[in-house]
Amino acid sequence: MALIYVLNGPNLNLLGTREPEIYGHQSLIDIEAMLTEQAKALGLTIDFRQTNHEGVLVDWLQEAKRAGAAAVLLNAAAYTHTSVALLDAIKAISLPVFEVHLSDPMQREDFRHISYVGMAAAGVFAGHGAQSYALALDAAARLAL
Ligand code: DQA
Repeated sequence: MALIYVLNGPNLNLLGTREPEIYGHQSLIDIEAMLTEQAKALGLTIDFRQTNHEGVLVDWLQEAKRAGAAAVLLNAAAYTHTSVALLDAIKAISLPVFEVHLSDPMQREDFRHISYVGMAAAGVFAGHGAQSYALALDAAARLAL
């Protein structure tokens, strides 16, 4: 069964209570449950994680390659806009990495308009709340298996 890593960055553990007018009312656990159901229907396994630490995201991207994952969904949160280390890691692992955001950073502050993740991502799904993850998982199933 194909394996997809789903990696979440800083402050996403607070989803549900964090700025709900921007990020919605679903918690990260709700999103994991939704995605687990979808993965089952698609015949996939997901490994769903969250960390507040940039280097841990780098470690997990490298681990995804070693574990034989077919693709990664990555919501790097604020590190999307700052992290050359994540860009380098995505290039280093040569796996399809799909960038995910609940909000649409392009419609927000200027500092969110740059995406280091996007410079190497296989696709970007943003602005659809929790459904951004569902769209990205469908894309991974169609494009990466
Ligand atoms: C986010 C968008 C980022 O700009 C922000 O820093 C986040 C969440 C999103 O999912 O909409 O923490 O990645």
